Amino acid sequence: MKKNIDLSRRRFMQRTGMGLLAATAVPAWLNAMEMGKASSLLGNQPNPNFKPDVEIDLVAQRDVVSILPGKGTAVFCYRAHLVKGPKETVMEIPGSYLGPIFRLYKGQQVRINFHNKLPEPSITHWHGLHVSPETDGHPMYAIAEGGVRVYEFEVLNRAGLNIYHPHPHGATATQVYYGLAGGLIVNDQDEARLELPSGEYEIPVVIQDRRFDSQNQLLYGASMHDRTIGFYGDRILVNGQVDVSMDLASTAYRLRMINGSNARIYKLAWSDGSPLTVIGVDGGLLEVPETKPYVMMAPGERLDVWVDFTGRSKGSEVALKSLAFKGVLPKMAENRMHGGGGHGMGMMGGGLPVGSEFNILKIRIVREVNEAPRLPSHLSSYTQHSVSDVANPDHPIPIGISEGPNAMLLNGRPYAFNDVQSNERIPVNTLQLLEIFHAHGGHGDGGVNGQEMEGQSKGMSAMGGGMNMMGGNMAMMFSMAHPIHIHGQQFQVISRSSASTDPEGYASVKEGLISSGLKDTVLVMPGERVKVIKPFQDFKGLFMYHCHNLEHEDMGMMREFEIY
Ligand code: C2O
Ligand code: CU
Repeated sequence: MKKNIDLSRRRFMQRTGMGLLAATAVPAWLNAMEMGKASSLLGNQPNPNFKPDVEIDLVAQRDVVSILPGKGTAVFCYRAHLVKGPKETVMEIPGSYLGPIFRLYKGQQVRINFHNKLPEPSITHWHGLHVSPETDGHPMYAIAEGGVRVYEFEVLNRAGLNIYHPHPHGATATQVYYGLAGGLIVNDQDEARLELPSGEYEIPVVIQDRRFDSQNQLLYGASMHDRTIGFYGDRILVNGQVDVSMDLASTAYRLRMINGSNARIYKLAWSDGSPLTVIGVDGGLLEVPETKPYVMMAPGERLDVWVDFTGRSKGSEVALKSLAFKGVLPKMAENRMHGGGGHGMGMMGGGLPVGSEFNILKIRIVREVNEAPRLPSHLSSYTQHSVSDVANPDHPIPIGISEGPNAMLLNGRPYAFNDVQSNERIPVNTLQLLEIFHAHGGHGDGGVNGQEMEGQSKGMSAMGGGMNMMGGNMAMMFSMAHPIHIHGQQFQVISRSSASTDPEGYASVKEGLISSGLKDTVLVMPGERVKVIKPFQDFKGLFMYHCHNLEHEDMGMMREFEIY
């Protein structure tokens, strides 16, 4: 059994040019697999006492879909079948490799039977859902080809858009890249009262970037460089298709956006210069709508965007774009990218450099309508926490990011199963202050232990000699932006320092960072310090926190909290 898994996995690695990545990922992955075999026995039987309102069979499998003209593209994909429940629960995106959109209601009892028909281990995580650790898709529960894992949970979340995607350690990036992802909408009564645009007026917009070879097959590179800054495609896909143009009516729409890219950060804006109206983020609706000239969206983040085309005449067009920006990549990479320097594909986005301007989605008004729903001035209510509410006002739980060619770490340590440190142990049913910052360097020897490492000297020694030659700030040379995701309940961002190693780059993204609302993934710019308040309620056990740049995650920029 074991042998088969290894063999088929190795074959996949070879096919996808993943050899190098595999080499670094194997020990942790093997570890998780050993655990997985024992523990998945617990999760593969339905509980006869659990009475589901909704039951879904979810399969991860291979398929061939049509993306580019001509030959079909081999993908990994989620396919689902509704066993029980309202028929709107599973909404296919026709022709897409993306999994169907699931639509659940707060309070529903949900059973999902996950079947792995991939030639390698996988496990599904419900990004954004507040569920038990056994249900959270922890890598230790990865199941081999042919395996089943039964998830049973109550929908505790408020209304919002979540993501389901694989989470096997060391292989999340490739599995997502090859197509495994889907949206999971939760609805509730508070939201329903607002009568926001629905049906054909509520549109999922899952944004991803991919690269194709001349045979229309997905290309994934795993050079050291790709891993260090993340892998970027040169084609933008919306809902699994390229060059997407939507034919809409001159009325209001609700766009439910997910950044499903492995590494690419977008600076979203309308091509005609009208501001973007944001009504919700990761954890659901904001209190009041926010109007922004542009909005930054990093991998793992979601946006609920209101757009009203009232008054636009038939035939008019507008595009959703990503505008130019700087400052999210290490200075070295950015200089190389913008200066040309003879780097071809495989580097910072190839034909589509990170931070360049491009179209994401074209919208054509094909039908004039006289009336549109009005944007509510008040959207939702939730408790706004302040530092005086938390259990640890003076001792924030540190999440120190350190990055480097061989050291993608949090709090100085790479991901390892069962390696919980003292500052990663959190009592259940508490509200905690967390501080995310750039620690730089990182010895990878566990010596840091969550202590903050400020200053450049440690970083320099960690990176080896020669840093002085770079002249100036080591932080500036290596530091990049990281979308940090914390599993479990959403948090509130209470402060972001504007301190930056790159003021010019920061200025190009600053106005697009949304700090209000409930978040589970927050983009941390180089030099930034972000404080968040997060509840850890209801469930004891292991919950991951990691960078949602999926290459970083797989390289080890992931840790776990133990809630006790
Ligand atoms: Cu969306 Cu732990 O991931
Ligand atoms: Cu990262």
